[in-house]
Amino acid sequence: MKLPDAQVAVLETASADDAQTIDDIADATGHKPETITGAAFDLEEQGLVAVESATEEAVELTDEGRQYLDEGLPEVRLYEAALDLGADESPVQMGQAIGASGLEGQEVDIALSNYARKGYGSIDSGEITADADADSETDPEVAALTVLSAGDADVDDDTLDRLDSRGLVERSERTVRSVRLTDDGVTALMEGVEATESVGQLTPEMLTSGEWRDVEFSEYNVEADAAEVGGGKEHILRQTANRVKDVLVGMGFEEMEGPHVDADFWINDCLFMPQDHPARTHWDRFAMDQPREIDELPEDLVDRVEDAHRNGVGPDGDGYHSPWDEDFARALALRGHTTSLSTRYLSGEQVGELEPPQRFFSVEKVYRNDTLDPTHLLEFFQIEGWVMAEDLSVRDLMGTFEEFYAQFGITDLEYKPHYNPYTEPSFELFGTHPETGELIEVGNSGIFREEMLAPLGVEDADVMAWGLSLERLLMLIYGFEDIRDVHGTLCDLELLRDTEVMY
Ligand code: PHE
Repeated sequence: MKLPDAQVAVLETASADDAQTIDDIADATGHKPETITGAAFDLEEQGLVAVESATEEAVELTDEGRQYLDEGLPEVRLYEAALDLGADESPVQMGQAIGASGLEGQEVDIALSNYARKGYGSIDSGEITADADADSETDPEVAALTVLSAGDADVDDDTLDRLDSRGLVERSERTVRSVRLTDDGVTALMEGVEATESVGQLTPEMLTSGEWRDVEFSEYNVEADAAEVGGGKEHILRQTANRVKDVLVGMGFEEMEGPHVDADFWINDCLFMPQDHPARTHWDRFAMDQPREIDELPEDLVDRVEDAHRNGVGPDGDGYHSPWDEDFARALALRGHTTSLSTRYLSGEQVGELEPPQRFFSVEKVYRNDTLDPTHLLEFFQIEGWVMAEDLSVRDLMGTFEEFYAQFGITDLEYKPHYNPYTEPSFELFGTHPETGELIEVGNSGIFREEMLAPLGVEDADVMAWGLSLERLLMLIYGFEDIRDVHGTLCDLELLRDTEVMY
């Protein structure tokens, strides 16, 4: 039987009794491991060998691990410095020991937190002892770092866990393939295999020497697995944001823009949010320190908003019987919702007076001091929108949502009455998660109340409005369960790479 050179090498090196790893065969034959892997898979296809895969833990030193291997672990350096200063059961001054050890910054904390645990001595009220029985030469963690740096993995689990939790090693898994001869492989070897002089790649040297005329080229295997190329692509969140924009533009909306950092006036006061509302306390918002206040606010609008807060709007109106302070309204913060853009547009501040009918939207980031969990992040994208027209009702709002969500294949919206200081009526929207079947909240909405609209100067039209979560929409479309799968350091790369674009 004639086979390409590398395949012959694998056949002749492999055994029927013991599986041999690709690396071993590569070492034994002088071929590259990737050549041997390719040859092994070709032979497996012909039934001459079996290829087995196993996962093996690989452990590598981190930069910090390598640094300690060179300079010594901080606690060992501290121990040795303390010994040099004459410490034993009777202590020496800690400051002196640290100075003599040469430890700096964080290393000092690291040394202190490991010192007693490892039996080097004790630390008490600024003094440090050194246990004469401790032996820094045989520190198990140092020994393990040495063994690991030599490429060996023969380290006990407890020490390895400890090094891992100290961030001195990084563990990873790798696939180890090994090859074993099959019965057919043994038969083929007995009958005799010979290497063909086949060449996998044409080189410039072959062309100049004319050698190409005499060699036999290996055949193309068009069925072979090709290497996967992970090209760059648009993030699914950005893709969906763009799709949302297209859909809303298609529904006749114009896009709003405005600052991420804004005055509380635009974020809250213009929304008839009382200044003592719980959402306005410092632990719910990200306040700005520099600069602390907005430069300018339209004074007559400020007066009207203050009046609405104090006295209400209309003959039967009633205000909040709580303080209203302009300085509080001028304070800058990262916006907790993009409804700040809606107030800027409705008031005429952004693009001048608007005559009904009008439709506006934005798909922009908002910032909230929430607790991170599978459905909450400190920042997310809000799909804000509003329609200004005469005689709007909740049916118009629901109809708009049905039309919008249907573009994304979502047709089972549910609504729940809700409360916002700035809308009446108000309701939350829910959709069903395609994997878990749970109802998840996707947005909040309502019809802006007079107390909000009148000060902004919107007198003879209704305005219906909403804030929807882009990430929750994504969950309904793509079925992932943790918002952190698409954002931040914990994101699920496979999901981001493999998610099909849906249109
Ligand atoms: N601002 C609301 C939120 O962030 C959303 C909303 C906007 C509700 C407009 C009603 C009207 O939840």
